[in-house]
Amino acid sequence: MSVIEINHPLVQHKLTLLRNKDAETKLFRETLTEITGLMTYEATKDFKLKDTEVETPIMKTTAKILADKVAVVPILRAGLGMVEGVTTFIPTAKIGHIGVYRDEETLQPVYYYCKLPENIAEMKVLLVDPMLATGGSAIYSIDYLKEAGVKDISFMCIIAAPEGIAKVIEKHPDVDIFVGKMDQGLDENSYIYPGLGDCGDRIFGTK
Ligand code: PRP
Ligand code: URA
Repeated sequence: MSVIEINHPLVQHKLTLLRNKDAETKLFRETLTEITGLMTYEATKDFKLKDTEVETPIMKTTAKILADKVAVVPILRAGLGMVEGVTTFIPTAKIGHIGVYRDEETLQPVYYYCKLPENIAEMKVLLVDPMLATGGSAIYSIDYLKEAGVKDISFMCIIAAPEGIAKVIEKHPDVDIFVGKMDQGLDENSYIYPGLGDCGDRIFGTK
């Protein structure tokens, strides 16, 4: 298990655009997709390859393709904003959905929906959610995937709080976590600070 912070200058630059409270919905969505694409490059760097035959205009040759089947699983709603960033680079990825929201009073994850690809147990799963705050939603979703038989899970988030990351590591030490930026902590409402506010509301323009 490891926590990998993506310190690439383009990711850090684009994160600043996302944090800006005046960013319009269009810019917010597009930038989230771009950051996810850049993070996908890093999160897939150890994916296995296998040989295949290909005929170039010049000759037949042996070349490489991805060996594993891949599923991307967004945690609804905000995770939906990261799907295109992954599928741009892995267009064959299957897409599952886990619907969990964080109860504003108790901060506990509340389940409402799930649909996963058939045979997900044999796939490499990229679980995506822009925000990891207390860690409750991520832990719930990883539990759910493991109960479905998934053995290979990487979690990608854009911004995380250190206390949430610590909880995920404690409960699921086998899961690699890729994070755009580890922020300072959680405020009195368990929002990440400096953070970017409510990510779902900013993606969907619901506030
Ligand atoms: C946000 C975010 C995570 C969760 C993080 O979703 O997208 O899923 O909160 O908080 P946690 O680490 O404390 O669980 P939210 O519950 O606001 O739902 P939404 O995506 O539907 O807006
Ligand atoms: N969910 C969000 O969207 N933002 C936070 O800072 C915490 C939870």
